[in-house]
Amino acid sequence: MSQTISEPVHRTARQIGGRIGAEFTDVDPLTLPLEEIVLALRRHKALVFRDAGLDDDGQLAFAARFGELTRAHPTVPSVDGRPDILPVRGEEGIRSNTWHTDVTFVRTPPKLSTLRALVVPPYGGETLIANTATAYRDLPRPLREFADGLWAVHTNDYDYAVPSTNAEKAAEYRRVFASRRYRTAHPVVRVHPETGERGLFIGGFAQKLIGLSGTESRDILRIFQSYVTRPENIVRVRWRPGDLVLFDNRITQHYAPDDYGDQPRVLHRVTVAGDAPAGVTGDRSYILEGDAAPHYTPARAA
Ligand code: SIN
Repeated sequence: MSQTISEPVHRTARQIGGRIGAEFTDVDPLTLPLEEIVLALRRHKALVFRDAGLDDDGQLAFAARFGELTRAHPTVPSVDGRPDILPVRGEEGIRSNTWHTDVTFVRTPPKLSTLRALVVPPYGGETLIANTATAYRDLPRPLREFADGLWAVHTNDYDYAVPSTNAEKAAEYRRVFASRRYRTAHPVVRVHPETGERGLFIGGFAQKLIGLSGTESRDILRIFQSYVTRPENIVRVRWRPGDLVLFDNRITQHYAPDDYGDQPRVLHRVTVAGDAPAGVTGDRSYILEGDAAPHYTPARAA
């Protein structure tokens, strides 16, 4: 009989959150059958591989099991000599303490993200991951129908008014982050290309709703976002060095609390290239400013 993710075998993902998140222990992510990971990811949206035992090459090989990789980032430099690895170093001001989905300011954001912990603080420095599909389903029907018809402008160049432990470093990081400007229109409700699930596709880069004023956009986005960040829809990952996390960037948001002061925290991020999001009518995202970021992600015909 073939194994399913619900069978009580030691390799099976153990659910760690009510609506999102599962973890594998004592598993080699490089040899675990791909189908098992894919099924677990569809169901749980974020997977933690405890003590995964991977180095940089291993993380790249793991991510490449799911498709072509993106480069590290459209604007932020990679780890030295590793063009596909983004360093996430707290002491460099890289503290992602705003809810977001990775790189939604380009037309084809990554479909999957992997994060691997190299150095973790003794407390804090966790990563919160939210299920945007349950957030969508939580909306009262009139709001869901309203969201279905909306499109949002996502950009990497916006007023990032979030306090940081190291304000100077954070300001320099923001300057590099926005050194090349992107603006892309995405549907507010994205249909997952594999499962057909609908999810709220907004987050920190979504700055304006098309056809509405700035004030109206902020108020409405805040209402939708409040459903994403309901505690019911979130799993909180407490890192240990060597842990690896894989999440579906098409149907999640994440947030890294800046709560560890000056203590070191280093993660490496590797992302898998994705396609252009489609909304409920099948219409796809389109570029408003900037290019298709071919230096960052393989071009997609769709
Ligand atoms: C990221 O947003 O990719 C980094 C998340 C983290 O620092 O936990």
